[in-house]
Amino acid sequence: MFRIFLLVLIPYALLLSVFLWRKAPVRSMGKPVSRGWGNRLRVLVIGATGGTGRQLVQQALDQGYPVTAFVRDPSKLQLEHANLRIVKGDVLDYASVESAMRGQSAVLCALGHKRFFYPNKIQSNGMRNILGAMKACDVPRLICETALGIGNSVGRLGLPHTFFILPLILPFYMWDKLRQEELIVASDRDWVIVRPGMLKNGDARGGYRHGPKVGNYFWPVSIARADVADFMLKQLTDDSYVGTAAAVCW
Ligand SMILES: NC(=O)c1ccc[n+]([C@@H]2O[C@H](COP(=O)([O-])OP(=O)(O)OC[C@H]3O[C@@H](n4cnc5c(N)ncnc54)[C@H](OP(=O)(O)O)[C@@H]3O)[C@@H](O)[C@H]2O)c1
Repeated sequence: MFRIFLLVLIPYALLLSVFLWRKAPVRSMGKPVSRGWGNRLRVLVIGATGGTGRQLVQQALDQGYPVTAFVRDPSKLQLEHANLRIVKGDVLDYASVESAMRGQSAVLCALGHKRFFYPNKIQSNGMRNILGAMKACDVPRLICETALGIGNSVGRLGLPHTFFILPLILPFYMWDKLRQEELIVASDRDWVIVRPGMLKNGDARGGYRHGPKVGNYFWPVSIARADVADFMLKQLTDDSYVGTAAAVCW
């Protein structure tokens, strides 16, 4: 019985990996990278009540940025700071995204959900609204957390992910994540896609690997959400990864 299961699972996992494979994303726009935000960079954090989102909010405040936290339920954030504005909204509701977007210089997106087991477009439809509102409000930069294991990083989250977690738990989720990435790549914003390995809570290590080819085809790779947030915040003022997808892991 187990052999039959493997005989079905392995070709299915390989086929799924083929469908999730894409060329390395590159910025198609020829326009120069934007630098119009003066000396007070205002950041909008989407998914601010999530694991990475909380780290983004806290670290951005620690670094002195005025932060707008976009949340569905403000009572979940439990944070007060003179530089923090909390805006209630839903990424699937364009009007609420646009109203939070006004006056921002950059968007840090750590959107995610747990509806793994049925097809949905939460991440891609949410990203369509975010990109639309960025254009409408002339917000130039987007740093978006997606995941290792899609696009040109297929397989680089290790064998257990490629042959078990992805085909058995995450096919719909990753398919929509790929759509989310495709929307970002097709946009005319200054974007950076950040693809972390498996996320851990706990302290940042400070040292982590990053780059287009980071990851491992055999064993799982991971990173703390605190380190991912650190890397994402660095992309606000560092242009080296603009228009590309950077993987991050320990
Ligand atoms: N877990 C991993 O090992 C792993 C590995 C690689 C990449 N990733 C990716 O990394 C990203 C961040 O993951 P995470 O675990 O740190 O985040 P998370 O804890 O799952 O948080 C997701 C955030 O998105 C918000 N959200 C969901 N639907 C929304 C909507 N319709 N409107 C507004 N906000 C909405 C959630 O708000 P609520 O609090 O209201 O639900 C929450 O703040 C995700 O894209 C995830 O797929 C995860």
